[in-house]
Amino acid sequence: MSNYKDNDGGKRGLDALSSLCKRRGFIFPSSEIYGGINGFWDYGPMGAELKRNIRDAWWRFMVQDREDVVGLDATIIMHPRVWQASGHASGFADPMVDCKDCKKRYRADQLCEEQGAKLVQKDGGWELPEGVKCLQCGSANLTEPRSFNLMFKTHVGPVEDESSATYLRPETAQAIFTQFLNIYATSRRSVPFGVAQSGKSFRNEINPRNYTFRSREFEQMELEFFIRPDEAVELIYGHVVTMADNPDLDGEPQQDWGWEVWHRYWVEQRLKWYRSIGLPSEALHLYWQKGDELAHYARACVDIEYEFPFGVQELEGIAARSDFDLSQHQKFSGKSMEVFDDHLKAAVSAMDEGAKQMFEQRTVSACILRGKSLDEAKAFCAGLFEGRYVPHVIEPSAGTDRLALAILCNAYDEETLTDSKGKPDVRTVMRLHPAIAPIKAAVLPLVKNRPELYAKAREIYKLLRKEWNCFWDESGAIGRRYRRQDEVGTPFCVTVDFETLDDDTVTVRRRDSMEQERVQVSSLVSWIGAAVRT
Ligand code: GLY
Repeated sequence: MSNYKDNDGGKRGLDALSSLCKRRGFIFPSSEIYGGINGFWDYGPMGAELKRNIRDAWWRFMVQDREDVVGLDATIIMHPRVWQASGHASGFADPMVDCKDCKKRYRADQLCEEQGAKLVQKDGGWELPEGVKCLQCGSANLTEPRSFNLMFKTHVGPVEDESSATYLRPETAQAIFTQFLNIYATSRRSVPFGVAQSGKSFRNEINPRNYTFRSREFEQMELEFFIRPDEAVELIYGHVVTMADNPDLDGEPQQDWGWEVWHRYWVEQRLKWYRSIGLPSEALHLYWQKGDELAHYARACVDIEYEFPFGVQELEGIAARSDFDLSQHQKFSGKSMEVFDDHLKAAVSAMDEGAKQMFEQRTVSACILRGKSLDEAKAFCAGLFEGRYVPHVIEPSAGTDRLALAILCNAYDEETLTDSKGKPDVRTVMRLHPAIAPIKAAVLPLVKNRPELYAKAREIYKLLRKEWNCFWDESGAIGRRYRRQDEVGTPFCVTVDFETLDDDTVTVRRRDSMEQERVQVSSLVSWIGAAVRT
């Protein structure tokens, strides 16, 4: 078996894949009849189904199959204050550099990386190291790197001035924080619980690249999982479970887990999900961000990375973000983001004054070490003693389009077979997991000119398409029809032949092994159903 990785480790493999994606209706350049628009991609009939299946599988795993997660579907355009509170308005920027001679524009860190150099951080800004040149014309006459905010700006209503300016959201996460109070008040969930959302986000990337990997319009699947601060866990349970306690991350989550365990739990859950939709463990890597790479409020962040043909790149980031986000919105909106926790209130009521004082002393010192002021630390303790706190959050944030690309890369295979004349014959096959394959089954009447057989095949096609996206193909030799389905990753071809009319069985041909077996029409739905579940 050969696949894209056997080619030249990247370029040709991606070319073969993108050509298949274009030819078979997975991915098209946006607005192609007008020459396309850089950083924007459309998903054709196959790609739309693939993405829908990815989203659905994510929702099933993250929301439907859990008691402690609910969903949200928020707007793309929000109040501009959201982006001031989140820090995006001031800080969501990449360093940009221009060639003064040929005018080509680059992301400065990428330009350096491509020449084996590293962009230098200086006085809150950036500086290019010696020797970095324009990749297009070779000139060293480059501008200083300057900050470029990645948010797309727009205006709400008919007047185009600063008072009407806002942004297309650069992440779905902020809507979850801004709706936290409404969701908490209406969903009858208590901390720990999570809110999930998938949807479009927009980033005006300086240099979109690697096919659909870094696009300007893209989709995210994000969970904000709200947990108690460790101090509240300690007050309620008398201890906080840490990784040193060797917790069972595969079992049911436990109330006495601290943030570190919740964070690791979500890393394991997410890896499990990626494997369940067909990404092999060996192609997935974890990158733990180092102390100096972490945002100042983040306690830990791990990237789940995939081995793309163009390198190992991030699919998802899982961050432990402390109470930063809700506290920011509390500050900017003036609305309290605290929750009242009955268990905490009951635990504190049972404590004597001495124990409370000792707890307060310890907690205030620890908070100050983490950068809080004395007043903030004292207010935090006072809140805990009344059963109140601002929840902390663990955020698994995945890119849907990146994942679709990883899945397509992983599935692409060119298999060399031997034809009936003994000659090599290359079969292109997308080995997609059946649960996310765009078409679950193709129904193929062996011949067109036998009305009884044809009618039976139509009946079976109608039966199956009530369950899944299926395909009808009556044209060409049966072998060619199989190959067409292989190219779009259809796991099963159901052929209706003369025997069907005698014994009500069909031939089911499996995409990967090309093996065939007879299946009773009456059990076909359950037979395919069992195979296409994650
Ligand atoms: N919310 C995290 C991200 O968009 O990357």
